[in-house]
Amino acid sequence: MTAQIIDGKAIAAKIRGEIAQEVAKLKEEHGVVPGLAAVLVGERKDSQTYVRMKKKACAEVGIKSIGVDLPESVSQEELIARVRELNADPEVDGILVQLPLPDHINEEAVLAEIDITKDVDGFHPINIGRLSMKGRKPLFAPCTPRGVIELLDRTGIEIEGKNAVILGRSNIVGLPVSMLLLHRNATITICHSRTKNLPEVTRRADILVAAIGRAEMVRGDWIKPGAAVIDVGVNAVDDPSKKKGYRLVGDVKFDEAKEVAGYITPVPGGVGPMTIAMLLKNTLDGRKRRLGLIE
Ligand code: GUN
Repeated sequence: MTAQIIDGKAIAAKIRGEIAQEVAKLKEEHGVVPGLAAVLVGERKDSQTYVRMKKKACAEVGIKSIGVDLPESVSQEELIARVRELNADPEVDGILVQLPLPDHINEEAVLAEIDITKDVDGFHPINIGRLSMKGRKPLFAPCTPRGVIELLDRTGIEIEGKNAVILGRSNIVGLPVSMLLLHRNATITICHSRTKNLPEVTRRADILVAAIGRAEMVRGDWIKPGAAVIDVGVNAVDDPSKKKGYRLVGDVKFDEAKEVAGYITPVPGGVGPMTIAMLLKNTLDGRKRRLGLIE
């Protein structure tokens, strides 16, 4: 059996098209343009790349982006003051503070300052708290986890009643994606570095979400035949045959897994493009909520 490849790039492009149409409609009918503020502290190359990609994606769908670049040495007080300015700015519908922050800044304290109605990353403790409670809904769910669910939905993979195994318990992916799957009535198992007999656990998964950050750790014989495998990992491995000297691989050994799984996401081109599409969707939702068009 060879798995159906889930084309995240194509699905994300479709979603961006839908968002562009909605943005144009908002402008036409309400005379407003949604705005996203991206706060970047320091000069980490990976963070700079992510923020650049996010701004470019905004421009492509007609969302205004506001860049706030601060030096590595910025104090926590100054950073919080900037977040508060953005909270008060009526042109800003979404605020993202690119993580990780420098060591001298308390990430939790900064994220807690973001207005929850503008928390498009879904990292504010109130939004995370609501995500983690039965019968409650956050105003925004984190982008990568939301992208995982969207990929499953748009591929027609049923979630309700299925065994979902999540590898990894990070605040950005593993934990929130587990909560979203639970809200959709999956039976969830969260695995981590201390989990015993990992392959035995993953072999019970109808839906396997890999988000551990270990290159190609999940082998073909860890997968239940026919399972949906969603690979969130992005790992650079040395490859002298490439111009850059490296290539990106996921947490799943793709060539082995695709012979066993029913569905699988590639890396790159699977979950990655969905993260930014969901950020745009959250920003649009932020403005629609402020206009009273959605709850
Ligand atoms: N760092 C890694 N992933 C993310 C993300 O989704 N949002 C932000 N703000 N920072 C990140």
